[in-house]
Amino acid sequence: MSSVVRLAIVDPSDGTRNSVKNLLLGIDSVWLEAECSRYEFFADLISQTKPDIALISLDADQAKGLALIVQINQLLPSCHILVLSRSTEGSLILQAIRNGAKEFLNAPLRLDDFMAALDRLQLSGGGRKGGKSGSGSKVVTVVGASGGVGCTSLAINLACIEAQNKDNSVAVIDLDLGLGDADVWLDIIPDYTIQDVADNITRLDYSLLKRSLTQHASGAFLLPRPVQMDDHPPITPDQLQRVVALLKATFTHLIIDVSKSFSPLDIAAMQVSDMVLMVTQLDLPCLRNVVRVMQFLEERELASKVKVLVNRIGLEDSQISLNKALDTIGREVFWQIPNDYASMIESRNNGVPLIEQAPKSKATKAIEHLANLIDHGDHTTSSSGEAGAVPAEKPKRGLFSIFGKK
Ligand SMILES: Nc1ncnc2c1ncn2[C@@H]1O[C@H](COP(=O)(O)OP(=O)(O)OP(=O)(O)O)[C@@H](O)[C@H]1O
Ligand SMILES: [Mg+2]
Repeated sequence: MSSVVRLAIVDPSDGTRNSVKNLLLGIDSVWLEAECSRYEFFADLISQTKPDIALISLDADQAKGLALIVQINQLLPSCHILVLSRSTEGSLILQAIRNGAKEFLNAPLRLDDFMAALDRLQLSGGGRKGGKSGSGSKVVTVVGASGGVGCTSLAINLACIEAQNKDNSVAVIDLDLGLGDADVWLDIIPDYTIQDVADNITRLDYSLLKRSLTQHASGAFLLPRPVQMDDHPPITPDQLQRVVALLKATFTHLIIDVSKSFSPLDIAAMQVSDMVLMVTQLDLPCLRNVVRVMQFLEERELASKVKVLVNRIGLEDSQISLNKALDTIGREVFWQIPNDYASMIESRNNGVPLIEQAPKSKATKAIEHLANLIDHGDHTTSSSGEAGAVPAEKPKRGLFSIFGKK
């Protein structure tokens, strides 16, 4: 049980206690350690069970509930106290927080509110290793500066490489709703898609969400795009953020492959991400788009999350040099992936990820380094010195130098 959060609840009302219990039962990262129907007995229960979280419902008797917060706080300071109430009265919220509650949750309890509270308390990943330090999960959105630059190749292969580490649990969300092909890269015929998740969003719990994902032999899970194309997106930005909040509770890594339309849904994905990997190649249309997209993301306060990744380094002699590219985009290049057409195309055509298809290839090595960089911020260069392992220098000049001589 080291990877779950242990919780004890007190609520004299059987009805609300049971509905909270049902909700918690669907969360496999939370273990209901003890329940209590009397405020008077809860402190004893806490001393015996020493849970990570005490959930105190205030509605049966606010005074007793508030006093209990103080008592539990003194008894077991390491226990996070969450309170639950139908009341939204400011004075009650203030008193609960002053007494030592970490979070004030509105009743009836909603799964996403609860998960968001766990996330804030950095408890959503339980005691799991391998994720973002101090928090449960790392969310990376992969965006492209143009079509076909290698976003899906990167998202899938990064996910499969991360999944090699047994401490990691990895899911890919294919948010390229029209033309997404993540299932092809993994040779998966999924039973469910993001459409099913959206259709059941109001009764979504963990077991349902996990059933909607298909696991690949590498260990990575996939939430695929809908089967049918539609005029309307199957899921709203709010719903997507809810799904991501739930997935963050069980996965150490979420990798989101978005469309190239920078739609509200794509933006919502970036908003909930820790990192946005912007994939570009070294050609003028791509580099010009990087500048344009960066301006767009800056206006949405997302630019600080963006890391530029140059794919297919060494593609053609006619490519713009990396230094000139840096001049153009005015940002550091976070990482480079070499051009490795044979490995990539073989991997995609066989539906077998690079780590299995071509474990020693240049592209695989570069993506392994990228995974390391994402997880540990380790910018060490590769011993083999292959392309992609060396971070670029800081940019020196502005946009129009690209039009000057090479
Ligand atoms: N580093 C690389 N070396 C050689 N070929 C690559 C590399 N990365 C990607 N490719 C190839 O580029 C093509 C496009 O890749 P991919 O589908 O991943 O791009 P994308 O950005 O997801 O495209 P789309 O805009 O259609 O979503 C594929 O055929 C893939 O094999
Ligand atoms: Mg793609």
